[in-house]
Amino acid sequence: MNDLSSSARLAGKRILLGVTGSIAAYKAGEVVRRLREAGAEVRVVMTAGAMEFVQPLTFQALSGHPVHRDLLDEGAEAGMGHIELARWPDAILVAPASADFLARLAQGRADDLLAAVCLASTVPLAVAPAMNAKMWENPATADNVRTLAGRGVVLLGPAAGEQACGETGAGRLLEPPALVAGLGELFESGLLAGRRVIVTAGPTREAIDPVRYLGNRSSGRMGFALAEAAAEAGAQVTLISGPVSLETPRGVTRVDVESAREMLEAVLAALPGSDVFVGAAAVADYRPVAVAADKIKKSAERLTLELERNPDILAEVKRRHPEIFCVGFAAETTDLERHAREKLARKGVDLIAANWVGPAAPEADGVFGSETNALRLFWPDGEAALPLASKARLARQLVEHVATRLEAFRQGHDARGKVLPFSGTRDEGRGTR
Ligand code: C5P
Repeated sequence: MNDLSSSARLAGKRILLGVTGSIAAYKAGEVVRRLREAGAEVRVVMTAGAMEFVQPLTFQALSGHPVHRDLLDEGAEAGMGHIELARWPDAILVAPASADFLARLAQGRADDLLAAVCLASTVPLAVAPAMNAKMWENPATADNVRTLAGRGVVLLGPAAGEQACGETGAGRLLEPPALVAGLGELFESGLLAGRRVIVTAGPTREAIDPVRYLGNRSSGRMGFALAEAAAEAGAQVTLISGPVSLETPRGVTRVDVESAREMLEAVLAALPGSDVFVGAAAVADYRPVAVAADKIKKSAERLTLELERNPDILAEVKRRHPEIFCVGFAAETTDLERHAREKLARKGVDLIAANWVGPAAPEADGVFGSETNALRLFWPDGEAALPLASKARLARQLVEHVATRLEAFRQGHDARGKVLPFSGTRDEGRGTR
C-alpha cells in the first residue's frame, strides 16, 4: 500500500459540490476552501433552496468559478450545460443534502440542475445529509437513504448533536474536515493493495542525429491516468515514461526515458517482483540503423533513412515473465476487434484495451492528446466495453478490471506463470457508480 492520506488523494481531482437548502449551507463554504487546500478543483451547483441561505457570490469567490444554478439557462448551456457538467468531475459531493434533495435523488428526478447532473453522471457520488432529527428519522427518509445506498451512493454522516432548530439527535452536517476526508476515501479502492504495477507511457524518441529524432503524438495522458488510478487502488507504481509534459501523479515513482531501447531496459530493471505490467506507451516500431554523430546537413536532394525494428517491450515482458499479468493497448483505425484479438494472441498478453483513433473513430474524439476516450477490453475468453469518459475515469474502470482479472489469472497460474488446468470464468463488464 502506498502511504497517501485520504485527503491527499484529492490533489488534482475535479470535485462538483452540490449545495442544497439547509441552514448548514454556510458550512459548504468551508468545504470548498478545504477541498481547494487539498489540491482539488471545485465547481459549485446550488439549488434554489440553497440560495435562500447563502449568496452564490460566496461560492464563486471561494471556488474561483461562477456558480451553476439553472437547468435551462441559455448562457450556462452555451458555457457548460448539464451534460457537460455531469461529465466534468471525478466525484460529486452534495453537502448539505436536504431531505427533499435525497427524496428527489432516490426518485431519479431531473427537475433542477443539481438533480439532473447527478442523474446524468456516472462518477462516484457522496451525499452529506443535514436536516431536522425527526425528518432524518422519518421512515420515508430512511427508505430513500437505503435506496441510494443500494445504488452505490456514499453516505457521509449525518452527525448527532444539538441542532439549529433546537432539537437534539442525528441530522447535523458532518464537519468539513470529516467531509473532505470521507470524499478522499472514494478514491481509495484498495483493489490493488500490496501489488506492484509497472506502467509505460508517452511516446519514444529515436535519434537520427544529435538534434533530430523520430517521434509520435502520444501525450502520455492515458498511461499517467492509469498510473494514478493504480496508485489510488493501493498499488506501488513505477511509471516509465517517454518525453511528455505531464506532472508525476502523487505516490508514483517515475523513470524518464527517451528511446524504445532505454524504455525496455528501464522496464526490465523494474520488473522483478511485479504483479502487473501495463504497456500504455506509444513505442516507436522502428529506429534509425545508425545515428549520425553530427547534425545531418541539407546538401542532397533526397535523404534515405534506413530503419530497423525496435524490441516489442510488451511481448518481451510477457515472454520473460509469464507470471506477470500483462495489459496492452491497441489503437486502431479499422477492424478494432479483429486487430485487438490478434494482438492479444500474438503478444501472449492477458488483456488488451482497444480504442479507435483517427477520423473514422465512431465514438471518441479519440485522437492523441484528448481528455476523453472510449475503450473496448478483450481477454482470451471475454470482453467488455467502457463508454466515452474522461481518461481518469476510464483508467479507474480499467484498474477495476485488471484487479478482477488478476485474481482469476493468479488462480490459473502457478508461481512461475505455468498455466494450470483451469480456464478462468467469463465475466461481463462491471460498471462503477
Ligand atoms: O503492436 P502495437 O504497437 O499495435 O501494440 C501496441 C501495444 O504494444 C501497446 O500496449 C504498446 O505499449 C506495446 N508496444 C510495446 N513495444 C513496442 C510496440 C508496442 O510495448 N515496440
